[in-house]
This record gives sequence, C-alpha cells and structure tokens, in this order.
Amino acid sequence: MNLENIDKEYVLHSYARDYTNFVKGEGARVYSEEGKEFIDFGSGIGVCSVGHGNKELSNAICEQAQKIIHISNLWVIEPQAKLAQKIVDLSGYDMRVFFANSGAEANEGAVKIARKYGQVNFDTKKYKIITLEHSFHGRTITTVKATGQESMHTPNFSPYPDGFMHVKTIDDIYKNIDNETVAVMIELVQGEGGVEPFRKSEIQELAKFLKAKGLLLIVDEVQTGVYRSGEFLASNYYEIEPDIITLAKGLGGGVPIGAVMTNLKDIFAPGDHGSTFGGNYLSTRAGLTVVDILKREYDKGAIAKNIEIFDNNLERVASSLPRYFSHSVGLGLMRGLRCNSSEIQQQIIKKAFEKGLILLKAGRNTVRFLPPLTISEDEIEEGFKRLELALLEVEAS
Ligand SMILES: Cc1ncc(COP(=O)(O)O)c(C=O)c1O
Repeated sequence: MNLENIDKEYVLHSYARDYTNFVKGEGARVYSEEGKEFIDFGSGIGVCSVGHGNKELSNAICEQAQKIIHISNLWVIEPQAKLAQKIVDLSGYDMRVFFANSGAEANEGAVKIARKYGQVNFDTKKYKIITLEHSFHGRTITTVKATGQESMHTPNFSPYPDGFMHVKTIDDIYKNIDNETVAVMIELVQGEGGVEPFRKSEIQELAKFLKAKGLLLIVDEVQTGVYRSGEFLASNYYEIEPDIITLAKGLGGGVPIGAVMTNLKDIFAPGDHGSTFGGNYLSTRAGLTVVDILKREYDKGAIAKNIEIFDNNLERVASSLPRYFSHSVGLGLMRGLRCNSSEIQQQIIKKAFEKGLILLKAGRNTVRFLPPLTISEDEIEEGFKRLELALLEVEAS
C-alpha cells in the first residue's frame, strides 16, 4: 500500500486531507517527497512560529530529549517554572500559569477557573460564559459548545454541557449578562471566523465594564498569542488586562503545548486540575526556546518589519483585484484577504498550492495568511510572486 492508502485505511477520516507528503522544511519553505518546494504562508495552522527546521529549536529539543523528557507534575519541572516566569514577565500581567497540551485543553482550564470563581465568590453560583458568533474555541465537547458557530453544535455529539451563550456582537453581550453570567470569552482577532479583529475601543470598554461588575474577561489567544499580533499578546496591543488568557499554537513552535494564565493566582488547590503530559520538559523547553527567539526578533524590530512588508503586499493585491477581494483583514502576521465568494476563495487556495504556495482558508470567505514570524523578506516576496501567478490563473478559469 502506498502512503495515501495506508492513511485512508487506518486513520479515521476526520480531515479533508491532501496527500502531498512533506518530508523536510527550512525557514518558510517546505519540501514534498517529490522534491517540490512550497512557501508556507500557513505555518501549519499558525504553529511553526520560528519556521521549519529551526536549528536553535531543534538543538534545544534534542538536548532536552537526551537528558530528560518527562517526570510527572508531582515534581517540579525546571523549564516549566522558567517558561511560566518568562510568559508572565513578557505579558506584563500579574498572573500564574497552568500548562496543558493544546488550545482546546487550555480553554477547558479557563472554563474551570471561571466556574470555580463563580462558585466561591457569589452567594448563588455564576457559571454562564458568553461567547461570540464566528468564534472558535476548540474541538472538545465543552469548547465545541463554547464555539459560537451553530454548524459545530451538531446533534451527532450532543448533549453538550450547559452554561454557554452565544451572541452576535459585543453590544449584545451587555444585554445578555444575567445573574448567572460569570465571564465573557473572546478572541481579539477571530481567526477561524475570518481573521476579523475587534475595535480597540469596544474591547477596552467591555474590559472596563466587566471589571466593574466583578465578571471575568477570558481572552482566547491560542492563535493571536506569542507575537502573532506584533506584540507578545494581542491583549497587550489592545491595552487591556484580562483575567484569564489562553495560549497554544505558536508557543511550542510545533511541539504540542497549551497554557492558561490568570490573575486569580490562588484559584486552584492541589487536585482541582491536572494533566499527565502538560508542561513536561520537552514542550516547555521548546516553549522557552521559541519565546527567546521571538523576543530577540521583536527587539530587533524584525517582526514589525515583516508585518510592514506583508501589509504592503496584501494591500497591493487586495486593491488591484476588486473583482476577487473586498479588502484585506487582520492584525500583525495574522492576515487575510476577504474574497467576494467561497468559489474564489477555494480557487485561489488551490491554484496557489499548484504554484508552490501554502495558504489557508478561514470563515467569511477569507484566504488566510499565518506565516512564520521569522520569515525572511525574500520568502515573503517569493510567496507573493507565486500568489500573483496563481491569481492570473484564477482570472483565466
Ligand atoms: C482561537 C482558537 N482557540 C482554540 C483553538 C483550538 O486549539 P487546538 O486545536 O490546539 O485544540 C484554536 C485552533 O485553531 C483557535 O484558533
């Protein structure tokens, strides 16, 4: 059996999968088994923040693997403690961190923190969490229910946990808070929902309102976090102080990791929450190295420079082809081109792939760009060259 057939025979069919077999990567470039080269404007899906085959990251992982990979969380884990310290320092918030293995699991932790807060701080329990339409918070039963997309709440997986309410806009949040509401959970830039940022002023107003009421603001930074927005956290860019922030994706540079951080520093007592793998030596050593690399790039102004170059290219493409695009969207290196139809969106992604460029799709007919944050100017220019070649063919077909 060839690889495609083995995969089809033995792996559950939960992904609409392409069968290109990638065998190697370097920077923003990945190579298929046949030797075809692609520029990766997706970084997995916003994961390979320091690029593919990063030497500093792979050396750190190898060195750690040769020493010790895992001991349970019943013992102190040096890189875990140091990564927590680093994340808290860079965030500028007075928080503590719990490490998990994925974004959904980090969000599960956030829900548990909010519910315990709602239990111990009020005479009658507050437990409801309000989320927004077009949001995405994960694939576990709870985070699927937290996700504000009706199509994800299929009866196939019901019953779902109680306690989530979805509203259309930020203004609707105010109208729907009741005596049982404990928190609002939000992505500052809705990633899967179309790379759609919220206005700074409305987020700041919401944060202020919730604080005054003693309700929690949970910011899902699984996609926006760790410099993707141009700042360490999108919450820093929005100049707010959330109560709970979740991270994953780019934090491990490809090694699975999730984190939930909170200013409710004493919310958990031993036994309240845990994870076998979360925060082990391997993932947190990877996280430490990724954050070091990205902090250096940020301090040099290299991330800001990449954002500017990317932005100029996107604006040029968006404004020169109004028959395909209404506008460019996003923040930092989390960007998108809003297409006039889903057919155009799909064609662009397909043609780009044929030209050796990996693009992603997102909601609201958006072609999504999540390049490595360490991408070089040459790689950006080459990627856009391939995009423009692809667009010529979209035009022709
Ligand atoms: C904002 C957001 N939250 C949560 C998740 C879920 O993360 P994971 O797939 O690591 O569970 C994602 C994944 O795309 C995401 O973009």
